[in-house]
Amino acid sequence: MALLKSNKVIQCLGNISPALGVLSSRHSSWWGGVQMGPPDPILGVTEAFKRDSNPKKMNLGVGAYRDDQGKPFVLSCVRKAEALIAAKQLDKEYLPIGGLGEFNKACAQLALGAENEVLKSGRNITVQTISGTGSLRIGANFLSRFHGGARDVYLPKPSWGNHTPIFRDAGMQLKAYRYYDPSTCGFDFNGALEDISKIPEQSVILLHACAHNPTGVDPRPEQWKEISEVVKKRNLLVFFDMAYQGFASGDIDRDAWAVRHFIEQGHNIVLSQSFAKNMGLYGERVGGFTVVCKDNEEAKRVESQLKILIRPIYSNPPMNGARIATTILNTPELRSVWLEEVHGMANRIIKMREQLVAGLKKEGSSHNWQHVIDQIGMFCFTGLKPEQVERLTKDFSIYMTKDGRISMAGVTSGNVGYLAEAIHAVTK
Ligand code: LMR
Repeated sequence: MALLKSNKVIQCLGNISPALGVLSSRHSSWWGGVQMGPPDPILGVTEAFKRDSNPKKMNLGVGAYRDDQGKPFVLSCVRKAEALIAAKQLDKEYLPIGGLGEFNKACAQLALGAENEVLKSGRNITVQTISGTGSLRIGANFLSRFHGGARDVYLPKPSWGNHTPIFRDAGMQLKAYRYYDPSTCGFDFNGALEDISKIPEQSVILLHACAHNPTGVDPRPEQWKEISEVVKKRNLLVFFDMAYQGFASGDIDRDAWAVRHFIEQGHNIVLSQSFAKNMGLYGERVGGFTVVCKDNEEAKRVESQLKILIRPIYSNPPMNGARIATTILNTPELRSVWLEEVHGMANRIIKMREQLVAGLKKEGSSHNWQHVIDQIGMFCFTGLKPEQVERLTKDFSIYMTKDGRISMAGVTSGNVGYLAEAIHAVTK
């Protein structure tokens, strides 16, 4: 009788667990309205790659350098810097909000050149950031809060997949200018100039400083000069993203040419830098954000506001990677080892481009693959269509982003033949 009574109570309440006799939380949720999101277009490729058991599989998705054995590559200058740092038994106190001072100085010098007038007159502010993405986001937040002009940011078409969500989430409006010409697999110089000349004054324009991601197509110096002129006429605020300094030509100064030229021409740019690729410090998350100001007094005001922005997001940046980068940049012996290693990485990629094209010819491909050699940096924008990319993945376990971009850094002398065979199979 007593049992019957309690069963009735259970039926009435409905949400009491008979086993535990307590209110069940299994049926109620705060997140019922949360939809399943798609995997990240770039990092999601790695997740799919990891699930594949084919021993011939290749990950040409994410831009992360591999040695010729296909292994992640830790630069010897990084190992040496780590040993020097470990020997110092340094403390683990918080860094200042804007990061390690010595790092910020070395980072700005690397981009602008140590003798740059901007640095000498102290009219820049550089803060340490959480790699390139963190830098872009701090920059986007800063623009969103303080840029007096239009809230529009113009990206090249196409641009790195993460640019759009970074600026959108910071409250900026995304616009585009022509950049890549699919008919030549090269730079659409006239299209870019025409579009840029119509951008409303005081908007923000994003430029990839070198080794454009995803296309591997950069303007030549004469073309940069003309772009600078048009940008000046339109009075646009230039946001340079320099994630690959050294990776385009193998020479860090040559790769910073456009940034330095724009500054010389009087553009007070903002600049994002990353040490993920050129020092192989991917997971250490080392980057910098620089604002070139009118004078030192303006730089001080900007600095104060950058700190106010950063503090509630991550308080202050991590120290380990910044110590490594600073040690490399400021120790002449390590710096020269580093420059050689950057050169070595860039050269290995150039060799792979040549071998891939030779392999395609050997397979009997009748297409013109010259763009694979002409494009520079870590990526090759192959021109492969989404359905061809899908076949490469399904039939050959070759993973890459849907837009046909391949990370040349994942190609080795051991797998370049297989890649050529597979590309030929899906394009003949
Ligand atoms: C890439 O484009 O593959 C790299 O910049 C890595 C990333 O975070 O997307």
